[in-house]
Amino acid sequence: MRAVDIIIKKRDGLELTKEEIDFFIQGFTEGTIETYQASALTMAIYFRGMTDKEATYLTESILHSGDILDLSAIHGIKVDKHSTGGVGDKTSLVVGPLVASLGIKFAKMSGRGLGHTGGTLDKLEAIPGYNISMEEQKFIEQVNEIGIALVGQTGELAPADKKLYALRDVTGTVESIPLIASSIMSKKLASGADAICLDVKVGSGAFMKNVEDATKLATLMVNIGKNCGRKMTAILTNMDEPLGLAVGNSLEVIEAIQTLNGKGPKDFEELCLEVAAHLVLAAGLEQNIEAAKKRLKQQIDNKEGLNYLAKLVAAQGGDASYIYNPDQFPNAKYVLDVLSDKAGYISHIDALAIGNAAMILGAGRSKIGDTIDHSVGIVLEKKVNDKIGKGDVLAKIYSNFENVSDSIKLVLDAFAVAKNPVESKLILKIVK
Ligand code: URA
Repeated sequence: MRAVDIIIKKRDGLELTKEEIDFFIQGFTEGTIETYQASALTMAIYFRGMTDKEATYLTESILHSGDILDLSAIHGIKVDKHSTGGVGDKTSLVVGPLVASLGIKFAKMSGRGLGHTGGTLDKLEAIPGYNISMEEQKFIEQVNEIGIALVGQTGELAPADKKLYALRDVTGTVESIPLIASSIMSKKLASGADAICLDVKVGSGAFMKNVEDATKLATLMVNIGKNCGRKMTAILTNMDEPLGLAVGNSLEVIEAIQTLNGKGPKDFEELCLEVAAHLVLAAGLEQNIEAAKKRLKQQIDNKEGLNYLAKLVAAQGGDASYIYNPDQFPNAKYVLDVLSDKAGYISHIDALAIGNAAMILGAGRSKIGDTIDHSVGIVLEKKVNDKIGKGDVLAKIYSNFENVSDSIKLVLDAFAVAKNPVESKLILKIVK
C-alpha cells in the first residue's frame, strides 16, 4: 500500500477502506508517512468529506493509536458528557453530581482551557487542594465507591489525534466535519463510557456557526458512537450568548454551587437538566425526558446533588467546605462595572468576545502553559432579551489589576442592542 494512492483515491472522491485508513493513521503516528502527505489527505477529506463508515474507521484508527480505558471493573452503566466548547460552560460540575446522586456512575476525564473557552480542570483547581491527576486504578475505585470522578487524562489517549490536530491547525483543515467528529469521538471512546451525551454548541462563540452544520456534526458523532456500541445523544445548544452569567474559574464554580442549590441562572439550569436527563434515560432509570428532569429537580431541591459535589471534591483532596460556604473563594482585588451606552433590548452577546475579555484578565490561557488566575473573570448582569437603559450595568469585571480598559471595551462591544425583543432559544435540537 502507498500513502500517495490513498491521497489520490480521496482526492477523487472515492470511499477509503478500513485497511487504507489504518495504514495511513498508523504510518503518520509512527512517522513513516510524511507530514506533507498527511496534510494532503486532510485537505482532500476537507473538500471531499467522508461517509459515516469511513469516519467510523478513522475514529477507530485514531482511538487505537493509544491507551483505551477499560472501565469494565466499574459496576453498572458508566456515563459521560462532552461539550464542543463554550463560554461559561460549567455543566459537568452540575451534571456529574446530579446523576451520581441517583446512583449512575459518572466517570469523566476533562481537559484544560485554551483560548476563549475554559476547561473543567481549571475550574476544579479553583477549589483549594483539588487534585486532577489520578492513576487508572484509583479512578475506577473512586467511581465504584462514590459514583463519580472528574480527573485529567490518564495514560496517553489518542496520540494520533494530537498529531493530526496540530497539523490541521496550521493547514486550514480544522473546520472539516468528519475530522472534527473523529477527533472528538476517538478521545471520548478511549475514555470508556457506555453512554455519552454530546452538547454541540451553535453560534458565534462556537465551531459550528449554524444549525445545519451542527446537525451534520452531531449526527455523524452519534452514528460513530452507535457504530462502536455506545448509547448516544447529542443536544444542539445556542452559543449566541455565554452560558449562565459567570465566566472565569472560581466564579463559575460558585455559579455551579448556586445551581445545585436551586439558585442558578435559568438557561444554565435548563441545559444541565437536559443533559443529565438524557443520561438518566440512557441508564434506564426513567422512560421519558420529563420524568427524568423531575427526578433530577428533586435532587436539587433535597441538596443531594450538592452533597455529591462535596463528596467528589473531598475524594479528590479538595476542601469540601468551599462547596457549602463559597464565600471562602478569594475575591479579585477590583470589581468594575461595564455600563451600557445604549437603550433597548439585548439581541446578542458575543460569547467569543466575552471569553477573550476573561482570558485577558487572566482567567484563561492564550498559549499552552500560561498560568491561570482563578479569582478573575466576568459576571453578566444582563442576558439576551433583557431590557436595558443607558447607564445600566451590563456586566461586572473581576480583576487583579486596575487598568482593564481592553476587557471593558471587549465586553461593551460584545453586547448588541435592538429596539425590540428577539426570539431566543437555548436548546435547538436533539439528535439521537
Ligand atoms: N475539538 C476536538 O477535540 N477536535 C476537533 O477537531 C475540534 C474540536
